[in-house]
Amino acid sequence: STEVVPVDARQPEAAVIERAAALLRAGELVVFPTETVYGLGGDALREEAARRIFAAKGRPLTDPLIVHIAQVEELERVAAAVPERAWRLAEAFWPGPLTLILPRSEHVPRLVTAGLETVAVRMPSHPVAQALIRAAATPIAAPSANRFKHVSPTTAQHALADLNGRVPLILDGGPTPVGVESTVIDLCAAVPRILRPGGTSLEALREVLPEIEPPLPPRATASGQPESEEGQAQRAPGQLLVHYSPTVPLCLFEGEDQAQRTAIVAEALRHLKRGERVGILAASEDVEALRPCEERGALVRAPASLEEPEKVAAALFATLRELEAAAVDVILCRSFRPVGLGLAVQDRLRRAAGGRVIRVDPSAAAAEGV
Ligand code: TXA
Ligand code: MG
Repeated sequence: STEVVPVDARQPEAAVIERAAALLRAGELVVFPTETVYGLGGDALREEAARRIFAAKGRPLTDPLIVHIAQVEELERVAAAVPERAWRLAEAFWPGPLTLILPRSEHVPRLVTAGLETVAVRMPSHPVAQALIRAAATPIAAPSANRFKHVSPTTAQHALADLNGRVPLILDGGPTPVGVESTVIDLCAAVPRILRPGGTSLEALREVLPEIEPPLPPRATASGQPESEEGQAQRAPGQLLVHYSPTVPLCLFEGEDQAQRTAIVAEALRHLKRGERVGILAASEDVEALRPCEERGALVRAPASLEEPEKVAAALFATLRELEAAAVDVILCRSFRPVGLGLAVQDRLRRAAGGRVIRVDPSAAAAEGV
């Protein structure tokens, strides 16, 4: 069974770190906090540890892992070549929520990179992650510590809910501050491109490398269903359209703010009349308009204002899990502007919605006299 051990997020206790590091050195797995989300870590240079990670997550072997290092010097141990622009990004954003795709060094087992000749590398800033990687004295491969396709964990309890009995140890350092995963940048392409928006904003990245391209929109087929995993794995591994799904259907509303509110209220009342349980993920600006839904039993969660994308990001996954745990039949969700960390929020919500994105237009609201 799985043991959950508390650890001080700012000054991790040496004895706790040593115990976790000993497991990693033995090829075992440890769940640990990073500044983004909790990671499911194993020795990145040992194939059997990687095998255990894929098995514990239920993740297909076609989806590569991120290799975590504690010092910039370790970059050349895991990457075969480090272009000048990688050093510039590392200097500006490491330690922090940024992952760089670079040519794979032969020290990294092919299983870790899912057979690719590239490797994803990141240097986390969380003191527990830092201390653990140093104590293990090896790079640590770590995907998010959730079961495949579920919402990423931002607390030790989320990780336990998904991985109980599948890992020996979870270090509980409290909620993770950033709340969305790292930004992944492909530095092997001719023009550097964001593969996954995340905890480092496009705006900040462009101050260092103005030529960075934004992410391509996730592709869906005509049926609204995502492409086959194989098809996607070739182009951008891990960028499946449905990737961050709560177990409850999520319906995402996009369009002008007032029109979104009107549409969400109408849709919530429709579900409530059928006797269904409704969860609503909104912004503080929406709370007043949603009062009639709340009075009829809808669970309304408004973690932050539309002007605070960092707060929305920090609360996003915990809120989705909370609504899921409340056993709602449907989650109705407003959209957030793709500014700063709002780009990552938009990406995760679109993936959570799969094909269920409803575009509302302002004239619809006007017609209803709002
Ligand atoms: O914030 C994070 O990045 C967290 C914490 C634990 O560090 N980790 C994380 O790992 O989110 P994971 O495995 O859930 O997501 C890694 C993403 C996937 O989309 C994967 O496909 C992509 O990075 N990736 C890994 N190696 C790659 C490669 N060689 N080329 C392209 N994409 C890669
Ligand atoms: Mg993940």
